[in-house]
Amino acid sequence: MSRPRLSPWRNGVLERPERDTVPGDADLDADLEALAAAEMEDDAATDNRETADDPCAPPTFVPPPIDTLGEVAGIPRQIIAVVAAKGGVGKTTVATNLAVGLAKQAPLSVVLVDADVQFGDVATALSLTPGHSLPDAVTAVAANDSMVLKAYLTPHSGGYYTVCGSDSPADGDRVTGEQLSHLIRQLAEIFRFVIIDTAPGLGEHALAALESATDAVFVCGMSVPSARGLRKELAVLTGIGLMPQSRHVVLNFADRVSGLSVRDIEATIGVPVDIAVPRSSVVTLSTNRGIPLLQDGNRNPASAALTELVRRFDPSASLKRGRLHRRVVVA
Ligand SMILES: Nc1ncnc2c1ncn2[C@@H]1O[C@H](COP(=O)(O)OP(=O)(O)OP(=O)(O)O)[C@@H](O)[C@H]1O
Ligand SMILES: [Mg+2]
Repeated sequence: MSRPRLSPWRNGVLERPERDTVPGDADLDADLEALAAAEMEDDAATDNRETADDPCAPPTFVPPPIDTLGEVAGIPRQIIAVVAAKGGVGKTTVATNLAVGLAKQAPLSVVLVDADVQFGDVATALSLTPGHSLPDAVTAVAANDSMVLKAYLTPHSGGYYTVCGSDSPADGDRVTGEQLSHLIRQLAEIFRFVIIDTAPGLGEHALAALESATDAVFVCGMSVPSARGLRKELAVLTGIGLMPQSRHVVLNFADRVSGLSVRDIEATIGVPVDIAVPRSSVVTLSTNRGIPLLQDGNRNPASAALTELVRRFDPSASLKRGRLHRRVVVA
């Protein structure tokens, strides 16, 4: 796979990627043609579904038209980047459950972007089969027209929208950090909450998400490498001035048998843990079923912890919340 772009790291120094670049007009005609072809294909697929008349087919979720939020005074937008230094620590689990939980508070006001451009698995985690994905959402035609962008979003019956990752790592890899930044800005004009799931580490897409974000959710596993990774990540982001306004630390896979305590993790990362999600087979099962924990509504300690995380973003709850960072205890 070709990699035309440079890494944001140069000579050991993390360079801030330049923003505000929108794809040029040169691609516009080609994109318009591709869009027209895609729409014709969609129409044909819809016709096929209508004529198939399959009584066993699942009901199709038809969302209402997406309104643009506009500049309504007093409605703050929140752009939430879910990041981690290491892989497999629960970023997608956290991001998908945040989308489900926030959509319950604010239906149709939430969009979840899969910015793990090569191997994103938001669609799998949500049992979605998207017609369009991230590379479509950043084409020149969508970047220049939010109406077109809306047509590329995939709705979920839970009352939120997604920009799913590409099926092909090569196609996903062609999406630049600048294109992702522009997409996030466009979505923030439409939605109250923009949630961004990212790949591990501080690659250009994670940095683009963090640069736009009002909130960062840092996910850390219950291990020494994960905690050390997070400490370095926090230090780098503070050093280059990319730490979002609000920070939320989620300790995932929390248990009492790993030889570490919450205090040990806090001592390593240097900041308090805000939420501890216990290690639990219900989480693994929910991923494998493609139904986020907060969607199935069952009560268990992992769901309770994820609900507590959602509350940190609920504007009505924030007034009652008191201190932003409180001591957490692993049951
Ligand atoms: N608290 C938990 N208890 C048990 N299993 C969990 C927990 N959190 C996440 N998992 C499982 O760990 C696996 C990895 O989770 P997830 O995909 O959310 O991590 P990730 O950080 O997004 O990974 P990647 O870096 O590959 O994108 C999944 O199978 C998920 O079900
Ligand atoms: Mg993931």
